[in-house]
Amino acid sequence: MLLVAAPPTTRTSSPSTTTTAMMMSARRRTMSMGSSAFVRATKSRGTRGSAGRRRAPSTVRVVSEGTGRFIVGGNWKCNGTRASVKELVETLNKNVPNIEKNCDVFCCPTFLHLPYVKENLDSRFNVCAQNSWVEADLVDPEHHYDSTTGAFTGEISAEMLEDLEVPFVLLGHSERRTLLGETDEIVGKKVAHARYHGLSVVVCIGESLEERENGTTFDVIFKQLKAVAKEIDDREHSSWGSSVVIAYEPIWAIGTGKVATPEQVQEVHSKIRNWLAENVSEDVAKATRIQYGGSVNASNCADLAKLSDIDGFLVGGASLNGDDFAAICNASSVHYKAVGR
Ligand code: 13P
Repeated sequence: MLLVAAPPTTRTSSPSTTTTAMMMSARRRTMSMGSSAFVRATKSRGTRGSAGRRRAPSTVRVVSEGTGRFIVGGNWKCNGTRASVKELVETLNKNVPNIEKNCDVFCCPTFLHLPYVKENLDSRFNVCAQNSWVEADLVDPEHHYDSTTGAFTGEISAEMLEDLEVPFVLLGHSERRTLLGETDEIVGKKVAHARYHGLSVVVCIGESLEERENGTTFDVIFKQLKAVAKEIDDREHSSWGSSVVIAYEPIWAIGTGKVATPEQVQEVHSKIRNWLAENVSEDVAKATRIQYGGSVNASNCADLAKLSDIDGFLVGGASLNGDDFAAICNASSVHYKAVGR
């Protein structure tokens, strides 16, 4: 649930009309992507000075959970051969009639498999890259770190993803943070740069087991959020909402079979939403989709989906099984029923 100040917010629109309204924001233009349209922020450079918008709530009360469409992603990580990817694509395509229409879905193959998947996967699924490059020590706030093509051997730029019409990119996954040393600051820059190139972003945050046990979970995730908000709040504030998804993935739950309890997930998600309300805006807090990731599977997704502040899942291992992934997508209906919409 979201704690924000009066005046009261009455939500009358359906998830899709809410999303549509956000997409019509004056500072954006839509790009046609076959059957899927996605939002591209205009390359405006004149929206600095958001600090004045931050305010302490005078009357704090419970208003609402998020209002965005349920969104489920499959992170295929560093998995797949040509044969296994072909098989997975075929299974997913076969499952399209079984997947509820009330949720957004994306799949993240490796860069190598991305063009094949984009060509062959049904347009019911969006494709999502697993990373995009930004120069770590670039200080370039006026140009959105916009020099990411060139002599950077082995990297993939947001410009290339834009050129390929890849609508989403996953950034800041804990495996990249812990194994490849990505800092909060780099992730923030990557988000700004990817948004500048019109990509919707799924930004991963989450604490380690040690951090949870020593009571610093919220210090860690608020710091991760702050690094992102610093970059996009200043310049492209209106491109939060449906275009920036937050995936809360406690590191101790990833690939371990140890799923966070519904209480743990609800506590973190509602605090993320409150943080957004207090540090970005109430509108952004309501519109931002917050996914949970970490050992989600077809058996445990329904219980989690009942939580008011969960807006979807980011799925690793179970997304490599097309039938299981389709079942997880359909937890959207459990969620809408539980929250009464
Ligand atoms: P698992 O679902 O395999 O735990 O992975 C979660 C994850 O890291 C998704 O990004």
